[in-house]
Amino acid sequence: MSHSASSATGAHNIAPESMTSRDYYADSYAHFGIHEEMLKDTVRTGSYKAAIMNNPHLFKGKTVLDVGCGTGILSMFAAKAGASHVVGIDMSNIIDQAQKIVEANGFSGTITLVKGKLEEAVLPIQQFDIIISEWMGYFLLYESMLDTVLLARDKYLKPDGLIFPDHASMFLAAIEDEEYKEEKINFWDNVYGFDYSCIKDIALREPLVDTVELKSVVTDPCVIKTIDLRTAKKEDLTFTAPFSLLATRNDYVHAFLAWFDVSFECTHSKVKFSTGPHAKYTHWKQTVFYTPGNAIPVSTEDKITGEISVAPNARNNRDLDIRISWETPLGEKEVIDYKMS
Ligand SMILES: C[S@@+](CC[C@H](N)C(=O)[O-])C[C@H]1O[C@@H](n2cnc3c(N)ncnc32)[C@H](O)[C@@H]1O
Repeated sequence: MSHSASSATGAHNIAPESMTSRDYYADSYAHFGIHEEMLKDTVRTGSYKAAIMNNPHLFKGKTVLDVGCGTGILSMFAAKAGASHVVGIDMSNIIDQAQKIVEANGFSGTITLVKGKLEEAVLPIQQFDIIISEWMGYFLLYESMLDTVLLARDKYLKPDGLIFPDHASMFLAAIEDEEYKEEKINFWDNVYGFDYSCIKDIALREPLVDTVELKSVVTDPCVIKTIDLRTAKKEDLTFTAPFSLLATRNDYVHAFLAWFDVSFECTHSKVKFSTGPHAKYTHWKQTVFYTPGNAIPVSTEDKITGEISVAPNARNNRDLDIRISWETPLGEKEVIDYKMS
């Protein structure tokens, strides 16, 4: 078995010192900065570390596939947890650094790295006991590589194999956000005395990834999607779900707020983390969908009911088309098409 990063596709081999901004645009994961942000996200990386390294009984003597291994951090956790062999695959040039990192840390004998797209690669092992992957995007599914992980599961996971993580859930709530809506959306009504309102409509349809304080949340959260990675199909990632948001105080609603939780249910202690406004900061923050027009007044125990539809964009399947339709407690109905691109 080769212990050097072998190219499974025609990925361009460019030394980091020769890469220009154009190369980084085409291969954003090649830059160390994006990996620095992910590695320093202690909720993210610490949860994977706990799920893997606190469960050596699951890893001892097992073969592990790390889908989208990046700098190789999850592969090394698995090797340290006792895996007999780990294959890490990544289509980005960052894998050249991963190879050096694996060697520098003495894992060349346990970890094999493959450069290429999982979909096209030929792997040195055909059946794995465990798949590990950090595939989550903003709003869980934006630019997500979950379809790649599902494909890896169907092609390479043994029938009784484990997936780390194995569950994800998405939530929706409503928030009071007058100040920031004024700054981001209503700003376009009057720009130095000029009418820029044509941009207001475009800005409104673009969900905003940002941190929201828990005190802004004015309703209970509602689950809009649960994904069991052991059984999910690619088609399940296109869905429509009803929601009912129960107001917890008298206030005004300016936006919907979405976030997700991820869990490793197959572990003894069921490691879990949340990207919600009640939880510690993660680089995924939360996702804000501003509502048009005036704020929606709500009183305690009022309900905003509606439906959310999520689908990959037809032209670029890493983008998302999101439709939210709702009815206010006063019976007013609205539908907005949002686009994450
Ligand atoms: C979110 S990063 C995670 C990196 C690393 N596992 C970690 O936890 O720090 C996802 C990685 O998956 C890689 N990737 C995305 N789609 C892929 C595919 N279809 N085949 C191979 N690698 C892929 C990207 O290049 C990126 O390095």
